[in-house]
Amino acid sequence: MITFAGKIVAVTGGAQGIGFAAAKVFHRAGARLILMDLAESPLEESARELGAQAVALDVRDRSAMQAAFRQIGAVDAVAINAGIAPSAPVVETSEELWRRMLDINLSGAFFTLQAAAEGMKERRSGSIVITASTNSYDGEAGLVAYNASKAGLLGVLHTAANELGAYGVRVNAVCPGLIHTRLTAPYYEKTDALKEYFRHIPMGRGGSPEEVANAIAFLASDAASFVHGAALLVDGGQMASKYSVWTEEIGEFRNNRWQLK
Ligand SMILES: NC(=O)c1ccc[n+]([C@@H]2O[C@H](COP(=O)([O-])OP(=O)(O)OC[C@H]3O[C@@H](n4cnc5c(N)ncnc54)[C@H](O)[C@@H]3O)[C@@H](O)[C@H]2O)c1
Repeated sequence: MITFAGKIVAVTGGAQGIGFAAAKVFHRAGARLILMDLAESPLEESARELGAQAVALDVRDRSAMQAAFRQIGAVDAVAINAGIAPSAPVVETSEELWRRMLDINLSGAFFTLQAAAEGMKERRSGSIVITASTNSYDGEAGLVAYNASKAGLLGVLHTAANELGAYGVRVNAVCPGLIHTRLTAPYYEKTDALKEYFRHIPMGRGGSPEEVANAIAFLASDAASFVHGAALLVDGGQMASKYSVWTEEIGEFRNNRWQLK
């Protein structure tokens, strides 16, 4: 059984979506929680719901991140999850969009990892879970900056795992496929596009924030004590599939998912 009784867990981007779902799993497992998110997010409300400490910050602010971790003290686990995903074609991606994406999704994740790792390394104990993506591996039109940022996270993961393992600090990642959150709400409004997308997913559907949250909590927990440097796909089999799995011959698309006839 996964337990975080007596442990302190911090979650960036913890105010909503996958981060908040992860925070709820940690909360149920007994953790004392710190939610980190932008001041303009539903941070206060989400923290209140879980009896968590709210830390309003922008993950791009390295000094604020370091100050937050020094103030919190001994953190046992950190879910590095804050991210954005605005889209634009390659030739129309502005310098501003490119820099903002890399600053938040990649540099912000690195600053969080760096700030958390400092104390964990000293204490010879800790667990870090990064939210990467299936887009860390494959391409998707319109998401060049996002894909570059998520691919970069695997470099951070592998390097940090190499350095920190000797100090008892585990570093892993989850790689979600399409998960129904605020970030992906526009996709879910296009049923025809979803139908084609989900043809390639053996499970025939997208995922829920809770399904990613459970994987984050597992990797962060002692139940994963020998899992280190791993990137766990949470994608319903999407990355295992080369061709369409679902055809009209075997299935039908209802309520945003393929089901057997
Ligand atoms: N939803 C998906 O399909 C999906 C798939 C793969 C990976 N992911 C990743 O999961 C993570 C969470 O995404 P989500 O779908 O829950 O989105 P979301 O928009 O619901 O949550 C993201 C959170 O990050 C916070 N955030 C954004 N910029 C920030 C900043 N500069 N500083 C601090 N906090 C900031 C937001 O305020 C928000 O609370 C992201 O890293 C995203 O790339 C999502």
